[in-house]
Amino acid sequence: MELSDNLIREFRPSKKVVVLTGAGISAESGIPTFRGEDGLWKRYRVEELATPYAFQTNPKLVWEWYDWRRGIIAEAEPNPGHTAIAEMEQIFPDFFLITQNVDGLHRRAGNSEIIEIHGNLWQLRCVKEGTVRENYHVPLLDIPPTCECGALLRPHVVWFGESLDKEDLARSYNVIGECDLLLVVGTSAVVQPVASFPLMAKRRGAFLVEVNKEPTPISSLVDESLIGKAGEVLPALLGLIKEAYRGRQ
Ligand SMILES: NC(=O)c1ccc[n+]([C@@H]2O[C@H](COP(=O)([O-])OP(=O)(O)OC[C@H]3O[C@@H](n4cnc5c(N)ncnc54)[C@H](O)[C@@H]3O)[C@@H](O)[C@H]2O)c1
Ligand SMILES: [Zn+2]
Repeated sequence: MELSDNLIREFRPSKKVVVLTGAGISAESGIPTFRGEDGLWKRYRVEELATPYAFQTNPKLVWEWYDWRRGIIAEAEPNPGHTAIAEMEQIFPDFFLITQNVDGLHRRAGNSEIIEIHGNLWQLRCVKEGTVRENYHVPLLDIPPTCECGALLRPHVVWFGESLDKEDLARSYNVIGECDLLLVVGTSAVVQPVASFPLMAKRRGAFLVEVNKEPTPISSLVDESLIGKAGEVLPALLGLIKEAYRGRQ
């Protein structure tokens, strides 16, 4: 993997950096991506399960699927890609991470300046009251789980056909609208409105870098497309940044 001096110059610690991640960053932790071959559960596709309609018609089935995913994630560890992004937060005083992942691995790796734009599957929300609580039981004690008020609890995630949290979206637009450098990692960049972030950053004049194991719809838009596994490319990139800016800000 060639990482040019030009590229490393873009990662000066004075830059306002935003990292945008998708399922690909967690693939090397053993968590299936949705569009990959192992993205199926039983005979269902994600589009059939991650919807308000599926939950209304069969909350038990939807919760069995989430229970299965939570089981995989509970066994998983953040990988060197997550760790490199957590270290970037320490290196760049102006840093933000926007993730589409609901697995919570970025937090476990140590990131704190983070917007989980599709929610977090360790959080459960009462469908009646809207209250949110954390729940780390694996497997869940009851399927489907219920609130003290008697109503169903649902995963506090954004399903197909639902809008994103307004505050999360507004904060994302803010940080994207001000960034100098956008690093897009492991996302097929097709799910809106997140898919429009790279274009917004580009319009504002930010430098765009993509890390993905294959070309994506934004590859032609970005300034540098680094093809490879996030768990290998990001530590290599971080190593060069640290070498170039050691002791300097
Ligand atoms: N871990 C999770 O929390 C998780 C898992 C699956 C899906 N999702 C959800 O799925 C939605 C789908 O969008 P998406 O773009 O995030 O996922 P996606 O499945 O559509 O795309 C994954 C992307 O990652 C790339 N990729 C796979 N392995 C990689 C690796 N080792 N290194 C670098 N790139 C790699 C693929 O080429 C692909 O472009 C998101 O909204 C997200 O909420 C989340
Ligand atoms: Zn309730």
